[in-house]
Amino acid sequence: MIQSSNVLSNMTAPCVPKTTEENAGRRVKAPPGIVRWSSPDRDRAPVSAPPPSVRRHRRLDIRIAGRHERAEPPPAAERDVMPSDPILVTGAAGFIGFHLTRRLLAAGRTVVGVDDLNTYYDPALKRDRLAALGGGADFRFEALDLADRPAVAALFAREKFPVVVHLAAQAGVRHSLDAPFAYLDSNLTGFLTVLEGCRHNGCGHLLYASSSSVYGADTAVPFSTAQHVDHPLSLYGATKKANELMAHAYAHLFGLPTTGLRFFTVYGPWGRPDMAMWLFTRAIAEGRPVRLFNGGDMRRDFTYVDDVVEAMVRLIDRVPAGDPTWSGEAPDPASSRAPFRVYNIGNSAPVAVPYVVDLIERALGREAIREMLPMQPGDVHETFADVSALTAAVGFRPKTPIEEGVARFVGWYRERYGV
Ligand SMILES: NC(=O)c1ccc[n+]([C@@H]2O[C@H](COP(=O)([O-])OP(=O)(O)OC[C@H]3O[C@@H](n4cnc5c(N)ncnc54)[C@H](O)[C@@H]3O)[C@@H](O)[C@H]2O)c1
Repeated sequence: MIQSSNVLSNMTAPCVPKTTEENAGRRVKAPPGIVRWSSPDRDRAPVSAPPPSVRRHRRLDIRIAGRHERAEPPPAAERDVMPSDPILVTGAAGFIGFHLTRRLLAAGRTVVGVDDLNTYYDPALKRDRLAALGGGADFRFEALDLADRPAVAALFAREKFPVVVHLAAQAGVRHSLDAPFAYLDSNLTGFLTVLEGCRHNGCGHLLYASSSSVYGADTAVPFSTAQHVDHPLSLYGATKKANELMAHAYAHLFGLPTTGLRFFTVYGPWGRPDMAMWLFTRAIAEGRPVRLFNGGDMRRDFTYVDDVVEAMVRLIDRVPAGDPTWSGEAPDPASSRAPFRVYNIGNSAPVAVPYVVDLIERALGREAIREMLPMQPGDVHETFADVSALTAAVGFRPKTPIEEGVARFVGWYRERYGV
């Protein structure tokens, strides 16, 4: 279903023409799996775009190791990629997609954002996020349901995205007990349309949102990507694990480089109204009880959104290569002979949920009424990310202390809602 995007039409800009000849002869060799600006005076993979003075004429040169392992057609990694070539961000009107898009635009990249603006939570918040992205020529938005196969196929065929960051999904553990088919449509059919679009149009790197929910019944903490995760406790977690499996099949069959991002309880300004931090803040601000499940005995690895975006921006440039030493005799679940990787993106510093309530009380200057409730079906007691693989790959780990992050979130909330 294609939704009308009339309120957003002012954000639609014409397609930027691709000019691959103008920098001919300026290629530099990059090590396997690294995206590199083809500038003679830069010798490391960029974390952000080059300065504005060079933005218009420097070229990305993406090389991928193990190219010979790939089946046809060749990914865009083999094409010259200009900074003006659009990156697709799905779920761009969502919480994380909005922050990523804003960061990419600030770095001088061109972004096509897709979202169906569904009503799982207030679509006005999604529209406000889009409005905050501005109507610049570097950003185009399409209101589109990713389960709409012809529409998605047409978008990919038209744009030939060199990089896709797929964040659109039906999120939320608890909602998956009430509306399971929404998870099938968005998280499985929607993911397959994206995989197919990448496969048929030479995408050079697909990054996609997975979740700490894939760890399900595993209790050995910290959660490591070296663990096999086969016991999800919710349909939501099962769809995210299925995404990782589907990504591996496409990496193997079609040489599509894929990077899975297992996010851990992301929070921050412009957050999601169905998540604990938002619910607690609103309840305290309105003088209603804060509902603490499992009697408050829960720990979460709360991860500040700017840290998540930083990790993603770095991983965009870290195109996975097949690992020729990977062995099917003792398979590492997070890598492969195919160009496939999975990373945890978490703060690696779990905190007790009631402590977050303490911090919100302090930031709001109001006391919470605490209501103790039993554990909810589908929930887990603790999440805790081992981020050693992420740190080794991109030299960065999330680090914002919860005290700082909560203060920033509540500050934003107070300003938006005047409390
Ligand atoms: N926020 C977290 O703590 C967290 C944790 C783990 C994983 N994730 C995953 O990260 C991704 C982004 O999460 P978020 O917190 O920004 O959620 P969000 O709900 O704010 O953003 C997702 C966006 O996708 C859109 N969408 C859903 N189905 C769609 C479809 N069929 N077609 C087009 N658009 C569709 C929604 O309208 C929404 O704007 C999701 O895949 C989510 O499952 C988030």
